[in-house]
Amino acid sequence: MDEHYDCIVLGTGLKECIISGLLSVEGKKVLHMDRNGYYGGESASLNLNQLFEKFRAGAKPPPTLGASRDYNIDLIPKFILSSGLLVKMLLHTDVTRYLDFKVVDGSYVYQKPKIQKVPASDSEALSSSLLGFFEKFSCKKFFSFVQNYDEEDPKTHDGLNLKTTTMRAVFAKFGLKADPIDFIGHALCLYLNDEYLDKPAIESFQRMKLYVDSLARYGKSPYIYPMYGLGELPQAFARLSAIYGGTYMLNKPIEKIVSEDGKIKVTSEGETVTADYVVADPSYFPDKVKLTGRVVRSICILNAPVPNSNNNESCQIIIPQKQVGRKSDIYIGVISSPHMVCAKGKYVAIVSTNVETNEPEKELQAAYDLIGPIVEKFTSVSDYFEPIADGRQDKTFLSTSYDATSHFETTCLDVMNLFERILGKPLVLTIHPNLLKEQQQQQQQEEGQQ
Ligand SMILES: *[C@@H]1O[C@H](CO)[C@@H](O)[C@H](O)[C@H]1NC(C)=O
Repeated sequence: MDEHYDCIVLGTGLKECIISGLLSVEGKKVLHMDRNGYYGGESASLNLNQLFEKFRAGAKPPPTLGASRDYNIDLIPKFILSSGLLVKMLLHTDVTRYLDFKVVDGSYVYQKPKIQKVPASDSEALSSSLLGFFEKFSCKKFFSFVQNYDEEDPKTHDGLNLKTTTMRAVFAKFGLKADPIDFIGHALCLYLNDEYLDKPAIESFQRMKLYVDSLARYGKSPYIYPMYGLGELPQAFARLSAIYGGTYMLNKPIEKIVSEDGKIKVTSEGETVTADYVVADPSYFPDKVKLTGRVVRSICILNAPVPNSNNNESCQIIIPQKQVGRKSDIYIGVISSPHMVCAKGKYVAIVSTNVETNEPEKELQAAYDLIGPIVEKFTSVSDYFEPIADGRQDKTFLSTSYDATSHFETTCLDVMNLFERILGKPLVLTIHPNLLKEQQQQQQQEEGQQ
């Protein structure tokens, strides 16, 4: 086998699968390999047997948990903002046809001593006990400013230039105090820490708009989640790639990767294939990435919904850093059988945060205290790697690891960045002309059959 490809993709994590889908649609010849026997790499969803095998080699799941195949447990927990970038990518590529989604029931934020619903409307906000009486007044002024703000129309700017004014200064102008600031920055803008306060306010405004637009779609929460778990996402993009001629191979250990005569040569099981360039997750090129942080994640199986979540079958809970004396927020994502991720009557709560100390699991204690009795717990610490170079020089384009954010915005920004580094043009998220052609053909076929 000495075939030549435009691109060899290594690792079937979500980012790599989106890239191989996008490149295939662009008409590139793609070979996609993974050393594992399953799709998804770091971003896979596992059944119960696989989960026990990974975390407690040799141990069998207790029968009280139900059938292994009823479980699809994400290794990287995230929810999808329903007006966010991932939805745009799914629509851009028409990959939505391989997936089914269900809205997440609720969104909560911790304010000592308990969790409270993030208001989903103006009237909910006014009756919420999250904000004190006088805070509601200043928040109302602030939110009507946000709502009316139009980048193009200076009359709506109230003398503020959001590209230069910091968010801290904007909050000060509206007289907002610590609690509402915490709520806006962490529960609505979904910032992981407080660095945004000293940056231009424009990004915070865009994030608030994204939250509000996402919430407006389905009403209950701004999030959707795929049936059968996040592991469905990489597989759906892999199917897209395959339709456009991409070749997929699992269980392919990679022995050697060298750059020779302007080509990349990849050897697996004694056979060598070549490509113009390679795309991979950080694990395939340990010497081309740097460690920039750690993320601790804990998968908890519960017998009951999370206390104070109104029996919601799925929800997100944010614990803002300040509430528990940390630098970064703790996230809890709860999902259960309506999303086809566990046996009926069980709940999966996945807790995660950036590691700040030498005892990462202890950093999650505030979250364990909120979710009620834990039946099984699987904790892991992952290194967060970033590529050292942009890849243009050595034709090796690497993604970053999955971060601790609770949604897919940074994941998609990394994919868009990769796309631009590889092809030298930005990814435009409208329906691709090749896809339109295929859709038209399909429609004609369907009409022909009728
Ligand atoms: C989720 O919780 C909210 C209140 O926080 C409640 O109004 C709603 O009915 C719950 N939804 C479900 C499906 O349990």
